Amino acid sequence: MSHQPIRRADYLPPDFGIDRVELEFDLEPARTLVRARLAIRRIGASDAALVLDGEDMELLGLALDGNALAADRYRLEPTRLTIPGVPDAFELVIDGAIAPAANTALEGLYISSSVFCTQCEPEGFRRITWFLDRPDVLSVFRTTIRAERARFPILLSNGNLAAARDLGDGRHEAVWDDPFPKPSYLFALVAGDLAVVEDRFTTRSGRDVALKILVEHGKEGRAGYAMDSLKRSMRWDEETYGLEYDLDVFHIVAVSDFNMGAMENKSLNVFNDRFILADPATATDLDYANVEGVVAHEYFHNWTGNRITCRDWFQLSLKEGLTVYRDQEFTADERSRAVKRIQDVRVLRARQFPEDGGPLAHPIRPDSYLEINNFYTATVYEKGAEVIRMLEALLDRDGFRRGMDLYVARHDGEAATCDQFVAAMADANGRDLSHFLRWYGQAGTPRLTLEQSHDAATGTYALTVSQRTPPTPGQPDKLPLHLPVHMGLIGRDGAEIPLRLEGENAPQGTSRVLELTEASQTWRFVGVEAPPVLSINRGFAAPVVVESSESEDDLALRMRADADPFSRWEAAQSFATRLLLAGIAAAAEGRPPPPTDAFVAALAAAFDAVEGDPAFAAELLALPGELYLAEQVAVIDVEAIHAARKALRAAVAQGLVDRLRHVRTGPPRPFAPDAASAGHRALANMALGYLSTIDGPAAAMAQYRAADNMTDRFSALAILSELDVPERTAALADFHDRHAGDALVLNKWLGLQAGSSLPDTLATVRALLDHPAFSYGNPNKIYALVGGFAGNALRFHAADGSGYAFMVDQILRLDPQNPQVASRLLKAFGRWRRFDADRQALMRDAMERIAATPGLSPDCREIVGLSLAS
Ligand code: TRP
Ligand code: ZN
Repeated sequence: MSHQPIRRADYLPPDFGIDRVELEFDLEPARTLVRARLAIRRIGASDAALVLDGEDMELLGLALDGNALAADRYRLEPTRLTIPGVPDAFELVIDGAIAPAANTALEGLYISSSVFCTQCEPEGFRRITWFLDRPDVLSVFRTTIRAERARFPILLSNGNLAAARDLGDGRHEAVWDDPFPKPSYLFALVAGDLAVVEDRFTTRSGRDVALKILVEHGKEGRAGYAMDSLKRSMRWDEETYGLEYDLDVFHIVAVSDFNMGAMENKSLNVFNDRFILADPATATDLDYANVEGVVAHEYFHNWTGNRITCRDWFQLSLKEGLTVYRDQEFTADERSRAVKRIQDVRVLRARQFPEDGGPLAHPIRPDSYLEINNFYTATVYEKGAEVIRMLEALLDRDGFRRGMDLYVARHDGEAATCDQFVAAMADANGRDLSHFLRWYGQAGTPRLTLEQSHDAATGTYALTVSQRTPPTPGQPDKLPLHLPVHMGLIGRDGAEIPLRLEGENAPQGTSRVLELTEASQTWRFVGVEAPPVLSINRGFAAPVVVESSESEDDLALRMRADADPFSRWEAAQSFATRLLLAGIAAAAEGRPPPPTDAFVAALAAAFDAVEGDPAFAAELLALPGELYLAEQVAVIDVEAIHAARKALRAAVAQGLVDRLRHVRTGPPRPFAPDAASAGHRALANMALGYLSTIDGPAAAMAQYRAADNMTDRFSALAILSELDVPERTAALADFHDRHAGDALVLNKWLGLQAGSSLPDTLATVRALLDHPAFSYGNPNKIYALVGGFAGNALRFHAADGSGYAFMVDQILRLDPQNPQVASRLLKAFGRWRRFDADRQALMRDAMERIAATPGLSPDCREIVGLSLAS
């Protein structure tokens, strides 16, 4: 294990290329034999030795151009194999053995529910064979798989099936050819006994593609939505970007033990089954939306990731930020653009902003890492997508498309960099984007401040926008960034004002994108008769915090009249946040909460103005979350935050009670998973939650019993689980019994109990560790129960330190078996500096206990080191 940081500045091209790879697998769970035949060619210095990556394998033999290599011709170390004095072009055959059944890290070749599967990104291939395991080495792969037919009737790898035969002894063989050169991280193999759900898709140019989704036997009926999502994704990428699928078959395999969401291996996507399986009885509307989004995401990687891959892992956002942006746009087109934007911004603020403001802050293109697995972060993914979205705002849709076309034309078949992507965007549009590139290297969330003035005599409105990015670890001084300021002006009558900048002959619309490049800039609009109400950062065009002291009247006006629906929601969030912050201060000091009448009245008016869009109305009613609020206060007081939010919820329920009751009066609708139907359920369940603060558990219990779909049943259960009433126990027990044996559904049950604000939550979680629904071998279960508890701010940060001690025990138990999962859980301690002195001390002690543990993984060592250093 290397403990030296890897630095972006040290990048060197490889000394060798591997043009062709032939792999042969003899699969046995305990001991699998792997033969690799590599066609290697020197591209660097004539005296360079061949240095291959390899970990946790047994070397059985090495042959160079047909001659076995004696032990003195190579050097084998724990993480590499060095062969000096090799010719300029040669064939290397490596025989090795690995132990998939003993692989608990779920990296490389492992077994999930009796199915062999692989996870190679980012550095898992080096656990399968010795290789130049880096994304800028692209090879054509042929894969031969041999296994017992009875246990492993399905044998899959990337590309097209070239041959299949029986081997006579109960074993069979399949040979797969992938014609597209690819890096090793996109290699995949699956072998097992799975059910196949089949469909077809004809591409725009007439290619007939077989679509196959493989799931556990008996789960075929739950793959339909994933298949439908796949076909819609394929069509969308053709229509939006002119990008077509490029092989005759596309496989998706759902497995139950998987560290992340899904993996885009060429033509053989491997998915965490929670992002494939969905039916009305077991999946919520959120699950359906996630299936659609993740299927699209992995499919879109075929171009942004696979056909054009990353030169090195510092460029990870090149594929991830861009592909998240693409899946967000797909969902926006398929569902509601405004609602999708709101949900994405909520996630960004709850996860990425805290990361950007804490000890783990890093730019979307990091400069160094110890363990690359730690950098699959909200920053690389979600902020990365925001940076792409800003390019779209600055270049407009057509310009962005021209840039994408040029990017694909230039780099298809290559391993590219973020600089090259931005260069394609710039060149396609005749723009200089060198200043914009700072977003790739500078961490931290910029803060904008505003100054406005209005001159009635000349009808001139002046807007000054200033930017400042707070320091982050290792980056004390920040430079101004190039960002879109998407704004509009609203008159007191609620009408949008035509926007004409000084010097322009005529107004240019009512919504404009200004470009901020300096620390501070002023724009003057003419023809503005009265002081307007500013609507800024419309659509959340830039991932920034706007510090504004907007009056309550202006917020109320924008909540009902802003032409940009995102900004209407944002105004409601700002108004609520302001009240909640006052409430948090009051709760901490034992004072009564601030009056809420003005907010409740504004919310009622805004609610009335959105009639006909229940999904949006539900978002409007959702108060800012505890994580977001925690970011807004000087010292986080979890009890005060929880209490203030609860109090405002009760006030909103009282104030909107008639509207909320009305929402729940319509005739029952038959279940359909589409966005419009889901919107009705979202609003009805939001109303149910508010009303339960007035009426108690009866209505929720009735809905729980009568529900004909998981969304309504689970929403009711979630409401009950926050109430300390007998119905809670009854419903949780009933839910368990109804779904006993269905791991995915029981994960919801685990997560709900782990996230409960009730005082005995930790004791419940401890007891659930021994429940048959839980297992340390399955990441979904760990994330549901242990991760769910870590996300429960109120209980994780219990004043006596019990939550911290529990998490340390769990992390240390998991680290030896699955460091990726352990280090993700460890990130819960990252914001320790934001708490009171007592909790800081407890959290520091907890992390020091982890740091002092012998044999800690590099994954955890890096996170704990960065956290303690802050
Ligand atoms: N590339 C995957 C994606 O679509 C991410 C991923 C899947 C991954 N499995 C992983 C990353 C395991 C690290 C380790 O986003
Ligand atoms: Zn991805």
